[in-house]
Amino acid sequence: MKKAFVLGHPINHSKSPLIHNYWINKYQLNATYEALDYDEQHLTEFLEILRDGTFVGGNVTLPHKIEIAKLCDELSPDAKLIGATNTLYFQNSAQKHAVLIGANTDMFGFLKNLDRESVGWDENLQTAIVLGAGGASRAIIAALIQRSCKNIVLLNRTLGKAKNLRSEFSSLQITSKLQADILENFAKYAPGADILVNTTSIGMNNTHFDNLPLNKLPSKCLVTDIVYTPLITPLLRDAEELGLNVVGGLGMLLHQAVPGFEKWFGVRPQVDDSLTNLIVSSLN
Ligand code: ATR
Repeated sequence: MKKAFVLGHPINHSKSPLIHNYWINKYQLNATYEALDYDEQHLTEFLEILRDGTFVGGNVTLPHKIEIAKLCDELSPDAKLIGATNTLYFQNSAQKHAVLIGANTDMFGFLKNLDRESVGWDENLQTAIVLGAGGASRAIIAALIQRSCKNIVLLNRTLGKAKNLRSEFSSLQITSKLQADILENFAKYAPGADILVNTTSIGMNNTHFDNLPLNKLPSKCLVTDIVYTPLITPLLRDAEELGLNVVGGLGMLLHQAVPGFEKWFGVRPQVDDSLTNLIVSSLN
């Protein structure tokens, strides 16, 4: 029996058990996937259990994505770039001293979602506007850099955080140009945008941005949100009303789960309509 987990604190909001147990049933695997609640003070205790061989690996969610990365033996290139990990697995698991790898699949999930829902979105990608400079924005910036986006504009309520993020990424050897500014200056950058990504928590429970003039975006601009509760956030609804292409955030959640499942259980799972419907109905 192979066992995997999602670790967080609190953990009851996580959709990961629904996703992975759907696949365990679909592929009829002798496996389990469970939610584990450990707070910051008990992370090292959990790591001992993990290294004992109880689990083949698992997911990590808030608030542990950064701390757990420090406790891994190695980080995947994506996890290094993003500075956080959401997926754990072992290399050489048959040997006594298996190596604990911390990976990050958020970037993969974000890109897969757009590749599926908006084919060709990254062709000749000149300018992206990223709203927010918190933990969630890092995977999005890394993803845009990977797709050779020429200019990435980070807009945040708190300018200092956007500037810090710009400095962190700029210190790496990247070809993308990064700019940082306050959210209020959106109109200055909007006319040049090929893609607008919301990585802030605005949108959750139908909250909306004040004074974000989406009508300044060009008609070819793709608007996407990593918030998926609701599926169509007020930002996406407003963009849709202006005739812009929009992609919701649920696909990112579903696709980020794929690489971990494959590592732990040896089956590459499909994001199919039944899974999407299952998660959508759990949101209501
Ligand atoms: P996460 O790890 O999910 O990204 P976070 O690190 O707390 O969460 O970041 C939340 C992001 O949403 C930040 O960019 C935050 O802006 P600040 O850096 O100014 O705090 C942004 N955010 C949250 N509430 C906001 C609001 N009411 N208006 C504008 N930005 C908001």
